[in-house]
Amino acid sequence: MPIETPKAATNGEKPRIRRAADEEEGDPAKYPHYLPVWDYSQKYPPLEPFTHHDPGKNADPSLKDLLPPGVATVKKLTPTIGTEITGVQLSSLSNAGKDQLALFAAQRKVLVFRDQDFADLPIEKAVEFGGYFGRHHIHPTTGSPEGYQEFNLVHQQRSSNGEFETFIAGKNSTVLWHSDVTYEEQPPGMTILFALELPEVGGDTAFANQVEAYRRLSPALKERLHGLKGVHSGVEQAEASARGGGIVRRAPVVTEHPIVRTHPVTGEKALFVNALTTRIAGLKKEESDALLGFLVNHIGRGLEYQVRVRWEPKTVVIWDNRVTAHTAIVDWTTTERRHLARLTPQAERPFETPYVPEE
Ligand code: SIN
Repeated sequence: MPIETPKAATNGEKPRIRRAADEEEGDPAKYPHYLPVWDYSQKYPPLEPFTHHDPGKNADPSLKDLLPPGVATVKKLTPTIGTEITGVQLSSLSNAGKDQLALFAAQRKVLVFRDQDFADLPIEKAVEFGGYFGRHHIHPTTGSPEGYQEFNLVHQQRSSNGEFETFIAGKNSTVLWHSDVTYEEQPPGMTILFALELPEVGGDTAFANQVEAYRRLSPALKERLHGLKGVHSGVEQAEASARGGGIVRRAPVVTEHPIVRTHPVTGEKALFVNALTTRIAGLKKEESDALLGFLVNHIGRGLEYQVRVRWEPKTVVIWDNRVTAHTAIVDWTTTERRHLARLTPQAERPFETPYVPEE
């Protein structure tokens, strides 16, 4: 959920296009072709349903094409979430390796690949790589590199236009646990975020394991949650963008999804609520606020099932949005730029399977 909402045009007229490149201050961007562009003329029809074939289902569980023995170095970052990998170049993976990547991301929830050439690839090669994992999602409100709406850009920097200060003003903390665009009927699965430019220290991303968050609930609450649906809304995001003078590419949608969803490849059950879930269908407001508040707080406070990823130049982070929530950590105090690019392929419509007491 990047924060680069564009400011309103000051002369009272909306420009057709706004480019972050035209507003550069300080050192020039290292990846200028990845600076966000907001094109107000872009209007998209509602998303159509599609059949998602999850590449993880085809994967050889030995993971030998993804993590060749003697070549890849693999280190768990915590017991239940996060693995760091060196020695593997994502852009050179065979299709078998990509299938195994989808499986491994579902199993470990978050994968941190160091020393990648991803940011330096021709941009269409990065798009092609992401397209292997599902239909690219085009975000309704965020900036993208010119001509490549498949990317969702994070571009954060203190500058004289005050956007950064506006974002952090009036908050004790900007932590916002979310899964991406869960208001869509088919929210994303395996998701790719890569570093372009980073502060020397700070600007980490934290991830929570929603499978483990589900597992730690009491059997009585687990059973009660089955059958309940969360209402996920894109309205607030679209309204905030419009209010701030930003773009709205597609009319916002509101969608109900099961609160406990099952992963199509691992069969694991995960809590599926986050900052985009506005209420629980069928409950009165106070009941919904209390239960949803408990669940979102439970996901956010459980350091035992979270991982904090420290970015380094040339890092690519891959996570499975179906079974994780994440938040940026906006803690650096310098004017350094934090610039990341995300590809967010969509997956299946969330589904649930019956409650099983021992799970
Ligand atoms: C995102 O929400 O996808 C971006 C996370 C980050 O900025 O760390």
